[in-house]
Order: sequence, then structure tokens, then C-alpha cells
Amino acid sequence: MKNACLFSVLFAAASAFAAEGWTDCNRNGTCDPYEDPSLPVERRVEDLLARMTPEEKAGQLYQDCASDPKENFDAGQGFHAKIRDGRIGSFIWNCSAPGERNRYQRAALEETRLGIPLSFAHDVIHGCNLIFPISPALAGAFEPELFRRMQRIAAVEARAQGVDWCFAPMCDVARDVRWGRVQETCGEDPYLAALCVAEQVKGFQNGDPSSPDAVAACLKHFVGYSAGTGGRDYTATHFGEWDLRNIYLPPFRAGVDAGVATIMSSFNDIDGIPACANRHTLTDVLRGEWKWNGLVVSDWDAIGELCFWGYAANRAEAGALAMNAGNDVDMMGGAFVQAQGEGLVGEVKAGRVSAAAVDEAVRRLLRFKFRVGLFERPYVDEGRLAKVTDEAGDFRKAARVLAREAAAKACVLAKNAKETLPLDPAKLKRVALIGPMGDDGDEMIGAWFAHGRGEETVSLAAGLKAAMPDVAIDVVKGCALNTEAKTTTLQDGKAVVVSDDPSFYDAAAAVEAAKAADLVVMAVGELKGWTGENTSRAFLGLTGRQQELFDAVAESGKPIVTVLFCGRPLSVPAVWEKSAAVLYAWQPGSEAGNALADVLLGKVDPSGRFSMSVPRDRGQCPIFYNHATGSRPWDGHYRDLPRKPAYPFGYGLTYTTFAYTNPKVTRRADGTLEATAKVTNTGKRAGTEVVQLYINQLACRGGWRPRRELRGFERITLQPGESREVVFALDEKRLGYVKRDGQFACDHGEYKFWIAPDSVSGDEVLFNY
Ligand code: BGC
Repeated sequence: MKNACLFSVLFAAASAFAAEGWTDCNRNGTCDPYEDPSLPVERRVEDLLARMTPEEKAGQLYQDCASDPKENFDAGQGFHAKIRDGRIGSFIWNCSAPGERNRYQRAALEETRLGIPLSFAHDVIHGCNLIFPISPALAGAFEPELFRRMQRIAAVEARAQGVDWCFAPMCDVARDVRWGRVQETCGEDPYLAALCVAEQVKGFQNGDPSSPDAVAACLKHFVGYSAGTGGRDYTATHFGEWDLRNIYLPPFRAGVDAGVATIMSSFNDIDGIPACANRHTLTDVLRGEWKWNGLVVSDWDAIGELCFWGYAANRAEAGALAMNAGNDVDMMGGAFVQAQGEGLVGEVKAGRVSAAAVDEAVRRLLRFKFRVGLFERPYVDEGRLAKVTDEAGDFRKAARVLAREAAAKACVLAKNAKETLPLDPAKLKRVALIGPMGDDGDEMIGAWFAHGRGEETVSLAAGLKAAMPDVAIDVVKGCALNTEAKTTTLQDGKAVVVSDDPSFYDAAAAVEAAKAADLVVMAVGELKGWTGENTSRAFLGLTGRQQELFDAVAESGKPIVTVLFCGRPLSVPAVWEKSAAVLYAWQPGSEAGNALADVLLGKVDPSGRFSMSVPRDRGQCPIFYNHATGSRPWDGHYRDLPRKPAYPFGYGLTYTTFAYTNPKVTRRADGTLEATAKVTNTGKRAGTEVVQLYINQLACRGGWRPRRELRGFERITLQPGESREVVFALDEKRLGYVKRDGQFACDHGEYKFWIAPDSVSGDEVLFNY
């Protein structure tokens, strides 16, 4: 069934349910203008704003976090009291039961003076209930549309879960893979990331975030968060306006152009001024240059943490600084409502914040709530979740098909010596699947798994067994994922140990299984708890004793196919060297095992590419392809490491080979230019190639342009011997850059282009524009 059709069947009942919501206009016995859906939103916003007290305004601008268990709400205490007293406008909604949301919402609607509905937000990053591959993996498919399809599914699930606002897409550009949060990014390239971000916004919001199968999206983290010094989290950055404009802002701009409803300000500073109090980015750029009138929410306590930065003396002042800079909502910090003195109310009285600034923030918040449909449809249909998560239902089946397709397209084949892959089950009697990732569902779904569940995930073992029923597969764990106890944080915030035994190590059993097998599949990597937020790493190898296990198994002399599970591109020289084949699977999501089996057995040809450069060693970090040529491009490198990464951005093997010939620039009759090259499948199998266009401007007065910049790509599938001429227009949009004042520019002058399979190869072509 086509998705559109599937959604309409599923939610035919939802609109009927909506009538039960906000239709009675009865807060004060009359139907006030703000309660009248027939009036224009701006009129309703102004009407409601005019009725609000300063305290109610401050309360609306505060976001709290609710987690299971439900006792939080009981007996008029806790959240119930806060909602009733108008001290909360929205929640980070980490609760799992949609009915709970209705309970909270009912209190807001029925027990407050104006009955302003609450909004419920959640971190839905790469799936809500069914989990998809993480974003850097999916970006590497070079098929941004996959993001839209994924977030359509996620949006439907999120709404069913009771969520109307998703804290994604992540727009940060990954330049240092030591930073744990590269796991959430769309990779190191701003052009590719921008396309992936735009598609995500379209997927989440579907043109109208108020519809029952859409949600509001949130671009985060505005801006420059990924530039933390040394790949560390929550720390200072060092970049100027040039990089801000051309590296860090473009994905946000793409999200804004796609119509995003909200943006989250970040933890980092930008040239000394913390991002949530940065008037240049929040007001001059967002509101002034981009004319965007959506809602800005701070990151978790980022406003309160202005005191840790040594930027604000206390929370009240922090709140004032953030508000004056253009930050509308305070997530968790309490700076607007619970600060010393009276928070925002007191700051207005003292003249440190203007009433007009607060009104403007409230306006944006109310506009957002109208836009998301909360006034007309405040409650969630408690029956929907069961429908969308029913394994036998059409919706879940379609979601699984997409998750499988996405994970197969996202994995990257880094090495394939002697055509070890694809595996031919007819030639195999016994395979040893060795490593702690081999039969683990939990690790497959990554660090932001929302409501995803390990037990609903197809492990690699399950996938291989289903794909090769006649081959004996010995599954041997070999060792724990880490020598530290593995913990997970429950919805109520408690950390619990979930690993069996962190000291577990049994290389002998692994070696014995390897010796008895025709081939070994090593399933190793980094534990998901060491990826994502607050998980920077100084070493980029396998965690725990996995390398030792790998080396012991390699001694058996059996061919090894290594499948790497990771949230960042791991740097594992011994694995690259000793394995016959290496497949980077990232964190592939709920359909992990099926998708990987599809690729390993050649049912699907590998076509994923690295969305981040893979360092040879951590000493190369930060490493990214679009660096400066510098003053001596041939010199100045480390004495003990080559300059190039182990695998460059854009790199990935297929099961066939492609040749690139005759790259040239031609001028069309209308005077415009195009770059072309002939791509031929020179191998024996059909295959999909990701053809990439890179450009370089030779002399740019605005500032130096990187040695190469990705400005186009196309996935093409060719039969053996087949050729295709690939064409890219060389126009302003492709060649331009953003000047320090925010204006887009494209200079006349000399340029180069490459049409190539990755960011380091290909023949350059000089041309004048
Ligand atoms: C993260 C955000 C996230 C927020 C709410 C913060 O710590 O930086 O990405 O959206 O928490 O969970």
C-alpha cells in the first residue's frame, strides 16, 4: 500500500476523535476570539496575548520534562500543581503512555484560567517506535529523500505516542569524530547535510504540522555546537564569521527554507557569546536576515548554564540575557519562572527586559501552538499507538520495509579483498558469527532510540540465519562490549546496569568456532552508550577487549568479514588490514540483521558512502575533506601520519567497478555551463554508483574556498558494460558562497570541478565562469 493511502486509512478515525477536543469555547462561558478556529491565527494570538498576565506569559515560556512513572502528576502535587498554576507551557515528553498526555493536557485545558493547551516534545531523531539507521549513516546513502520517508513514519508514530513536537533534525556539521554527537549529524559536509535536513523537515511537518499524522520539527543546535574544542562536548568553539556562514549555518538555512516551525539554541559559545544569548545569530541572522518568525527554544538548561560559562551572574540575569538576545522558550533552566527574584516578571519590572520582548516571545509560542493544531486537537487518540506499532498491521509492515531499505543503503563497504563478498550460501557449510554485537538487538538502535526496543530489533544473527537457512551459524559472543559495566538510563532518570558481566572474555571459544567454520563474520564496534551526547572519545578503536578478541580470531587464518557497529567512523587499522572484507554498519536500526544480510549476500548491492572522513588515527582529528589548501598544500603535515584519511568522505565500494572518463565542461546554446563525465560499469555485476560533483574556486576575495566542495551528486544504477553521461549544471547556486554579511555571492573567475567517486579522486577540469 502506498504510504499516503496507508496514512489516510489509519487516521480516518482520528479526525472524528478531534471533535472531542477544543470546541466548546467555554473557559469563561463565552467563545472568545482566540477560541474561534474560523479567525486568522494572528488575530487569535493577539487576542490571547492581551488576556495574559505577566506570570502566565513567563509560565508559557517555560518547558519542563516529564518521565514515567506517572506519580509525577498525582494528588494535585508536582506537575499537576505546576500546570494548574500556569507555570509550564510545554513538556519534554519522555513518558511512554499517551493517556498520560491527555491527563496533563486536561489539567491545562480545564483547570487554568485561559485553557492554553500544553505542547509535548520528544527527541525523535531516527525513528520513534521503529528505529531507522542513524543520520550519518543515512546521509551516506546520498539519497536525502530517504530522510523524508523516514521522518514521515516517525511523525505518525510520534503523534500516536502523544508528541506534537520533535527535537530534530540535527543540523550540526560533523568535523571532529571524537565528538560523540557526530552520531546524530548528517555528516561533515554542509551541502549534503542541508539537503538531508530539508527533507527531514518536510517529513516531520508534511506541509502542515497540525495534521494528525505530522509534527513540528526543530532544527538544532543553533549554532556551531559541533565545533567544540578537541571534540569535547559542551565547550567553547573557535570559528569566525566565514565558517559560520559557509559551514555551520547552511543546514539551518535549508531547514528554515523548508518551513521549519522551531529552532533550538545550543550549549556552545560563538566567539565568546553563548549561543542561547547570542543576539547576532538569534536575532540579526534568524529574524533580520532570514525573516523567520518561528519559535526558539533553548537547549536543556542552556540558559541557566550561562552562569557556568561565567557570562551571567545568576539565573534571573541569564534569563534576561537570553530573552534580550531572542531566545523564546527556556528548556528546563527555570530562568524565566523560578529564578532568584521573580524571574522574567522581575526582570521586566526592573527594566532589564522590555515587556515588548516578552510579548514577542509569547506571540511566537502561541503562534506555534496554533500552527501545531493544539487548540483544535489538544488530545491524542489513545488507540492509535497500538495500531501503528502492531507488527501485523500494514503501517508497521511498511515501516519495516523502509527501515530495511534504509539500513541496506546506509552501510559502507570499506574493503572487499578477493571478492570475499557477496557471500554465496551454496559454497558455505559453517559460518562463525563472533563478537558482542552479533546477537544484540539493543545495540542496533543507537543512543537516541526514543521508544524503540531492542527486543523488536532483528539482530545480525537473526538476519543471517533467516537469509542462509542451510548454513550452520555458530554465534559466539567472545567478550563484553566494554570492560566498564554497561548502563542504560530509564525513563525515570535512573541508570541501571544492563550488561551481563563486563569482565566476560572467552577468546578460546571464539577461536574454536572460527577454526570449525569456512568463514568468520566478526560483529564488533563501540557500545552505543559511548555514542551520542556527552560521549566524546579520545580513542577511536573498538571498545573493551574486542580488538584483542579480533586479533585472536584472526590468528585462525580463516577469512574474516568484519561488520562494524558504531556511531562514529572508527579508526581500526588492524581490522582493516586483517579482515578480508569490512562493512561499516553504523547503528542500523530495528531492521539491522535483515538489511545487513541483504548486503552481505548481495541481494542488495552496497552503495553507501562515508559521510565523514575516517581518520587513520585519532591524531588526525579534526579531519574533513573540505579543508583549506593553505599556503603550502604539499607541506606542513604531520611527520608521522599521512595527510589523507584512511577512507575519505564520499568513499564506499560496490560489488562492481566503475570507470570515469571524458570529464569536460560545455557551454549550452543559452550560454550556461554544464559539467559532464561518462561513467561506465566495468565489472561483472550490476551496481549503483554515487557520482559526486566537487568544485573549487581558485581566487576568492570573500575568503578562501575549500580545496573541494561537494555541490552535486547522483545515484546511478548501471548494468555490466553500461555507460551513462552524468550532467551537472554549473550555475550560481552550485558555485556560490555566503559572504560575511550574509549575502549569497558568486564571483566570475576561474574554477575547477571534479566528477568523482569520492572527495579525493577524479580528474580536475578547469573552467571560467
Ligand atoms: C540535547 C538536545 C535534546 C535535549 C532534550 C539536550 O541535552 O542537547 O539535543 O533535544 O537535551 O532532550
